[in-house]
Amino acid sequence: MTVRDIFDTMSYGPAPESAAEAQAWLDRHDRRFGHFIGGAFSKPGETFATKNPATGAALAEVTQGSRDDIARAVAAARKAQPKWAALPGHRRARVLYALARLVQKHARLFAVLETLDNGKPIRESRDIDIPLVARHFYYHAGLAQLMESERPGMGPLGVCGQIIPWNFPLLMLAWKVAPALAAGNTVVLKPAEYTPLTALLFAEISHEAGLPPGVLNIVTGDGATGAALVDAEVDKIAFTGSTEVGRRIREATAGRGVALTLELGGKSPYIVFDDADLDSAVEGLVDAIWFNGGQVCCAGSRLLVQEGVAGRFHEKLRARMDKLRLGDPLDKCIDMGAVVDPVQLRTITEMVAANTEGETYRAACAVPEGCFYPPTLISGLSPSARLMQEEIFGPVLVSTTFRTPAEAVELANNSRYGLAASVWTENVNLALDIAPKLAAGVVWVNGTNMFDAAAGFGGLRESGFGREGGWEGLMAYLRPAGKARALKPTMPNPAPAEPKIEGIDRTPKFYIGGKQARPDSGYSTPVWGAKGQLLGDVGQGNRKDIRNAVEAARAAKGWARATAHNRAQVLYYVAENLSARAGDIAARLKAMTGAPAEAEVEAAAARLFSYGAWADKYEGAAKPVPLRGVALAMPAPVGVIGALCPDEAPLLGLVSVMAPAIAMGNACVLVPSAAHPLAAADLYQVLDTSDVPGGVVNIVPGDPVELARTLAGHMDVDAVWSFSSADVSGLIERESASNLKRTWVNHGRARDWSGAAGEGREYLAQATEVKTIWVPYGE
Ligand code: NAI
Repeated sequence: MTVRDIFDTMSYGPAPESAAEAQAWLDRHDRRFGHFIGGAFSKPGETFATKNPATGAALAEVTQGSRDDIARAVAAARKAQPKWAALPGHRRARVLYALARLVQKHARLFAVLETLDNGKPIRESRDIDIPLVARHFYYHAGLAQLMESERPGMGPLGVCGQIIPWNFPLLMLAWKVAPALAAGNTVVLKPAEYTPLTALLFAEISHEAGLPPGVLNIVTGDGATGAALVDAEVDKIAFTGSTEVGRRIREATAGRGVALTLELGGKSPYIVFDDADLDSAVEGLVDAIWFNGGQVCCAGSRLLVQEGVAGRFHEKLRARMDKLRLGDPLDKCIDMGAVVDPVQLRTITEMVAANTEGETYRAACAVPEGCFYPPTLISGLSPSARLMQEEIFGPVLVSTTFRTPAEAVELANNSRYGLAASVWTENVNLALDIAPKLAAGVVWVNGTNMFDAAAGFGGLRESGFGREGGWEGLMAYLRPAGKARALKPTMPNPAPAEPKIEGIDRTPKFYIGGKQARPDSGYSTPVWGAKGQLLGDVGQGNRKDIRNAVEAARAAKGWARATAHNRAQVLYYVAENLSARAGDIAARLKAMTGAPAEAEVEAAAARLFSYGAWADKYEGAAKPVPLRGVALAMPAPVGVIGALCPDEAPLLGLVSVMAPAIAMGNACVLVPSAAHPLAAADLYQVLDTSDVPGGVVNIVPGDPVELARTLAGHMDVDAVWSFSSADVSGLIERESASNLKRTWVNHGRARDWSGAAGEGREYLAQATEVKTIWVPYGE
């Protein structure tokens, strides 16, 4: 095309970005890379090619990381960790700041290399990915600076293994590396096999920034290298990628005391109400599903549009799709680049070809030969259609219609995922009414795909758990400082040689749905006092009792919607009623444990007061994001929490677990101490007389192993906690992989229930998930 032709047609002329610098950088490394371990590149080993998906040309050879490579990298990270953690926060802040500055200095090189390796438009890598990387390091330099004063008593986890995908190679590195380093951890990171190059460039500049050797190690390779990292002696695994691999990692880390965060797939709804600014909503959709060719975990891939405007909206959408430009990712004028790899292209093509429902519209724009896929809209699918439910991870939008806001919420939440959602309406009341009802970790009002280091990002359900960004993201790299004490098992009092049966024993039922319920099994076990007296018989809960209790908890939905003021009042009332019966309860506790128990009952009442206080004071935040908007961080209840209560302090322990859960609006199913189960029975009446709605607290005693297995495998339980002295932590983590529920288990470590470790923010954070709601705000 000549210049004259361009003037005649007024069409875009190509504006290619030069790849010379990036190619020269590759040449300087002879286009062969080893790993970056202990501050230097190792010799390349067995290698594989990383290619430019837009042309198919090989860019470089990178090394397939072996188990030995991983072991060397973990050893280097282990060696470097104590010194790095011992630096004052300000020193670490300086290094993170230097990294941010160097990312900015080399921004163009990073952007071009990213585009070459991944196929995303240079417009995106230059204007979105790389600036967000720099922002992430700046922000976390600040967290490192403030951490000691703002999060006292917390320390790093140790060595973190981090595994990242190919869709935002350097940005995902930044999301993982910045908080880990800020907190004083060291890192072994494995980039995705399709896109390892910017991680290697980053490793090179990290040296220049003054990062001590061993603090950041990069090992390249495929899934086998990732699996080796998961198996290594690390203290945390942070993973972003497919739900399938996330589930495997959950199973592989179970029982090892390894912290875990998973950021997995999504099928995020994009909801357009009939009063929305339709042109803006169409433009938003371009960002939602055609940004990075739809290869975005939180892509607005499921369009839900209100029936009255559906025809008009689809018409505008198709017209806009036809105008999208596909082509050379280095051309600054294109909207969509290449799909990351022919393997991914095949997956997209096959998924779309297998669909037989609805109407498929392929954009009329030109599609280059090779690894490219056209913008596609499939409308009129039923909610259960495979393409409405499964992540395609490509530029394919599926759509359906709804009539009422309630129907929109129902359709939106009809998914096993819960990552993000967009709501489009000009009615602020409607938007803010819908936002909290959506099962999503992030909600954008009249916007989409907005990210910032200050705003937490992460999912619910099978989209994983944990947050990245903000203080909440930093917390995922910290734990209470200090040495852990091993938990000694607490055994029930043995049956005496000559049982003393005094009067009528107490055989409490279970507490389910606000009523005392007969155990399903009909079996019970005698409970002996410290002096050999028979205190009662306790029923043995089984799978059916747990099922009934979970059903009752699930039905107690109203509690999450009760105001925090309301929940506070109920907790104070429980405390008051517990105190009123303190004498009796302490006497019975003493009979069980043999130790004076007045102080334990008093502490339990005080703890209830604490969480009454917290109920309306565990506040969210308004995050100052650098966009025309504000990101609200709302602590939302997790849902139904199953908890195995501690044995050491049978009453105080149970209250310490129950109170934060219900203060934050959750319903719970509690398994009381197996050694002293009768401690829970005294609470039934207290709860009954304190206006706790039926189903909010359910109590089922029984064998901790059997009940832990049932709770952890239950698809309708959202989180399982265990402070039991029985060895159930591994079992819970393994079984939780079924629906990827959150877990919080003790791994055999003791807690001081009467001290500071027995209450506070750690419990409240576990009882909530931060929901980030982006709203337009300001000038
Ligand atoms: P993947 O989940 O297999 O890969 C992500 C990362 O995990 C890569 O670094 C990979 O090498 C590593 N990995 C693979 N198997 C592993 C294992 N057993 N243990 C430890 N690490 C392992 O994703 P993939 O195959 O690249 O893409 C498949 C699908 O996953 C996509 O079509 C998309 O639906 C989804 N996906 C979702 C992402 C997200 O951000 N949520 C990102 C990438 C993919």
